[in-house]
Amino acid sequence: VKTIGILTSGGDAPGMNAAIRAVVRTAIHKNLRVKGIMRGYAGLLQEEIIDMESTSVSDIIHRGGTILYTARSSEFVTKEGQELGAKICQEHGIDGMVVIGGDGSFKGAEKLSEFGVNTIGIPGTIDLDIACTDYTIGFDTAVNTAMEAIDKVRDTSTSHERCSIIEVMGRNAGYIALWCGFANGAEDILLPERYDGDEQKLINRIINNRKRGKKHHIIINAEGIGHSSSMSKRIEAATGIETRATILGYMQRGGAPTCKDRVYASIMGAKAVELLTAGKSNRLVSYRHGQFCDFDIKEALAMKKDISEEQYRISKMLVR
Ligand code: F6P
Repeated sequence: VKTIGILTSGGDAPGMNAAIRAVVRTAIHKNLRVKGIMRGYAGLLQEEIIDMESTSVSDIIHRGGTILYTARSSEFVTKEGQELGAKICQEHGIDGMVVIGGDGSFKGAEKLSEFGVNTIGIPGTIDLDIACTDYTIGFDTAVNTAMEAIDKVRDTSTSHERCSIIEVMGRNAGYIALWCGFANGAEDILLPERYDGDEQKLINRIINNRKRGKKHHIIINAEGIGHSSSMSKRIEAATGIETRATILGYMQRGGAPTCKDRVYASIMGAKAVELLTAGKSNRLVSYRHGQFCDFDIKEALAMKKDISEEQYRISKMLVR
């Protein structure tokens, strides 16, 4: 490869900038040229392409978000859009591409590979919902942000002897909810992968806990279950205990990345360039069983991720 393109796609995640920086700096170290594609695949189709130098990525490693911006593109989902994207890459001399994003972004990466642009994916999502990897860029920061916010809600919840439902992100994946459930010592954790919808069971537990003298009852609810406000009204009516809902929302996607997100994202960025210079394409940089590795994108997309049964089982023993 001579020229590497880089884009971020889908929901942003803290640490994406560290990965961009690593891609740019590793490529320049290897005497390659780098082009940044603004606004993901949508920007590619609009030819929003900029030259990147070493200094283009100065002063960004500690910043949340993505300096390349991100978008979801409906046009790139079509065959015509994908062919056009590959053609634009070729016209700009881009013969290697790094895509930072989630599952949806990797489907696009796979297509770019098929149409002749060597493409490598890097997992970037706060949801930790990519099956082939134990680490995704942004999860560590997001879960720490959520944990700190929940600690604060807990203080006021205890003072007022209330029940609190706190909704964290994760449309299909309950990892943020599960980890906050552990880290915040929640009384209940509702995960999209496991919740049976039995609200009466929840209500009984709240009433029993109050009888045992508990001053608060923290329920961590994943976005994928949702309806936190209406749930809080039903719980208050059924228990007679004041109940409030707090939806943490997009604050979980922003902020300065943690040390882990900066370091792992940097290593993944460098690895992506090394895969391209080794002539590889259609691979996904991953971290599994304590090691950085890579998977064929098609195989990676076919893998299914579930909540760790062991983590879930242990979390159930600790909530009381
Ligand atoms: O993928 C990360 C995520 O934050 C999900 O948890 C959430 O459901 C989704 O993105 C929201 O995305 P949008 O930016 O489209 O609202």
